[in-house]
Amino acid sequence: MIQMHKNIERMQSRLEFLYACGLQKDGSHTRMAFSPEDQKGRELFTSWCKEIGLKVRQDAAGNLIARLEGKCADLPAIIMGSHLDTVPDGGKFDGALGCVAGLEVCQALVEGGIQCEHPLEVIVFSDEEGFRFSAGMVGSSAFVGKEQGLNAKDLDFTEETREDVYRQAGIDFPKMLEAKRDPKTVHCCLELHVEQGGNLDQMGLAVGIVSSIAGVKRMQITIAGESNHAGSTRMDQRHDALVGAAKFIGKLPERVRALGNQYTVGTVGSIRVEPSAVNVIPGKCEFSLEIRDQNAKLMDKLAEALRIDLEQICREAGVSYCWQDQLSHEPMPMHESLKKLIQVEAEAHCIPFTQLPSGAFHDSLLLAEHFPTAMIFIASVAGKSHCKEEYSRPEDIGYGYKLLLDTVLAADKIKAFD
Ligand code: GLV
Ligand code: MN
Ligand code: MN
Repeated sequence: MIQMHKNIERMQSRLEFLYACGLQKDGSHTRMAFSPEDQKGRELFTSWCKEIGLKVRQDAAGNLIARLEGKCADLPAIIMGSHLDTVPDGGKFDGALGCVAGLEVCQALVEGGIQCEHPLEVIVFSDEEGFRFSAGMVGSSAFVGKEQGLNAKDLDFTEETREDVYRQAGIDFPKMLEAKRDPKTVHCCLELHVEQGGNLDQMGLAVGIVSSIAGVKRMQITIAGESNHAGSTRMDQRHDALVGAAKFIGKLPERVRALGNQYTVGTVGSIRVEPSAVNVIPGKCEFSLEIRDQNAKLMDKLAEALRIDLEQICREAGVSYCWQDQLSHEPMPMHESLKKLIQVEAEAHCIPFTQLPSGAFHDSLLLAEHFPTAMIFIASVAGKSHCKEEYSRPEDIGYGYKLLLDTVLAADKIKAFD
């Protein structure tokens, strides 16, 4: 580990600089996709790439692609990277780690005078988190040519349209799918990321090799009741939209546990009530519903059971509902021989690891449908993520980086992945 101190310190310092780009007036840190803060982070990252001689361009979907040429320019590229956008007041590591580690691999090779046979690319995928317009993995979807059903007129919370926000970020919305990458130009994809759960930390392990990434379904639910006077409307005369929503949300954990397994999760993460006044019965309640699991059939079954629950609850509460499917991605296993390659490297360098599934989604979920793709996790202390307490130890960053570097060098020697 001694000879890696410089690399670890450089990655940590870059993570701090990127975090600082997200500083808000209230002291929180957010690089929301396509915001000025996100843009600042991307510009900083671009400047680091250019300092070491990488060529940087932005594709039609806003993905930043930094390229280090290999000895054979026409060989397909080894892709590393992740995302730089964050959730509100997110941590320092989610996404950013994979970007700075990919850059560190390139920088270490440049400084060591080593040129791979294959070109190396570090890609910062745009809008991975997806909380602004409720989609996620926007850049990686376009990169694999997957139409996500995004709407140009979708509004964010400031009522800006998707197409306007994208235009300001240099993206022409109708042309986004031009970012589609020819699979013949990609050798493999490797994403280093923090686990965002507590498994590795509990097991005392630095590194995880991801077996598969959970699928995700997102729905938007609107319950319509009747606004009325909160003082003069008797309890038996009410059609309270929020009461209907609350009953459904209260039942959700029990339903998920009954139908699911240890990996099945269901979340209502955002909710809006109208008119939202202390003395008015809520006439409308809108909320997000998300379910995730490693099994696509189980996700379908759970979604249907939840819809039936909602229907029954709404009937009893005298309100109506609208269920809108917003996003659906099936679970995705990682590439077998690429996983094996990571394992061989971990064993060869005595890096303590295990295999584990990912409950969070990642750009690799999309990449894996089209390119040989694998992910390396490092431990998240106490399993904290999507919050400012997110933390990974420097030594684990070192292990993750080393494994990424060694896997890149091993992948460089392979002619083609099956
Ligand atoms: C992305 O981080 C997600 O899993 O929501
Ligand atoms: Mn992430
Ligand atoms: Mn995230």
